[in-house]
Amino acid sequence: MAEFFVTGTDTGVGKSLVSAGLLRAAAARGLRSTGVKPLAAGARFVDGAWANDDALLLQAASSAPLDYAATNPVLLQAAMAPHVAAVAEGVTLDAVVLAGHCRNAARLGQDLLLAEGAGGWLVPLDAQQTMADVAVALGWPVVLVVGMRLGCLNHALLSAQAIRGAGLALAGWVANSAWPAMPALAENIATLEARLAAPRLGTVPWLAAAATPDAVARHLDPEPLLARRRA
Ligand SMILES: Nc1ncnc2c1ncn2[C@@H]1O[C@H](COP(=O)(O)OP(=O)(O)OP(=O)(O)O)[C@@H](O)[C@H]1O
Ligand SMILES: [Mg+2]
Repeated sequence: MAEFFVTGTDTGVGKSLVSAGLLRAAAARGLRSTGVKPLAAGARFVDGAWANDDALLLQAASSAPLDYAATNPVLLQAAMAPHVAAVAEGVTLDAVVLAGHCRNAARLGQDLLLAEGAGGWLVPLDAQQTMADVAVALGWPVVLVVGMRLGCLNHALLSAQAIRGAGLALAGWVANSAWPAMPALAENIATLEARLAAPRLGTVPWLAAAATPDAVARHLDPEPLLARRRA
């Protein structure tokens, strides 16, 4: 069993798409993969029920999908900072409870389980807790999705430092071009390669409208994650 917490250098950097790609890459190897989004902010009425697009994407990309409630146990209506939405909606967020949902999802003993955080590493849950506390409560190694754009070196190095400072392993990172044409893309990737000291699971180019999980999977190598399952 290989379980990972997926974080990113920011919101909108491709955590969901890259997670879905990793789930598909594992599925293509005949493995049972499951993606969960323990906390989502932003609900849509889909087929008679409230749902979040990230959770639906992860569920659809999983070869061993869970039902919606297990995929996304906590769903806030408003697409905004979770701690603000939670207060407005009268919801109490608790890192240990969110981690418990992730552990329950892992009970099937899948080959690969990915839990996508909300936003970046230190997104607040309330006045005290952050998403990082969920990762710490899990103790799972972390996958960092780096959205390749100006400023990402600082964001990536800060995130890696915070992850390791929290006592967690950085299991791997992905260079994802969630926007077209970053200047000096190759040099920026080489800089991160030299400094992140963790396996790069892939470099995903800007795929424009063709950015599907299967298309992304072709640019990813889940082996460093799967190797942990055998270790
Ligand atoms: N390599 C890429 N090529 C083209 N589009 C991409 C790429 N990566 C991400 N995108 C698009 O960018 C948007 C943001 O990606 P995604 O939703 O995966 O980010 P996220 O980090 O999960 O965001 P959130 O913080 O909201 O969870 C999506 O529309 C996605 O399809
Ligand atoms: Mg997402």
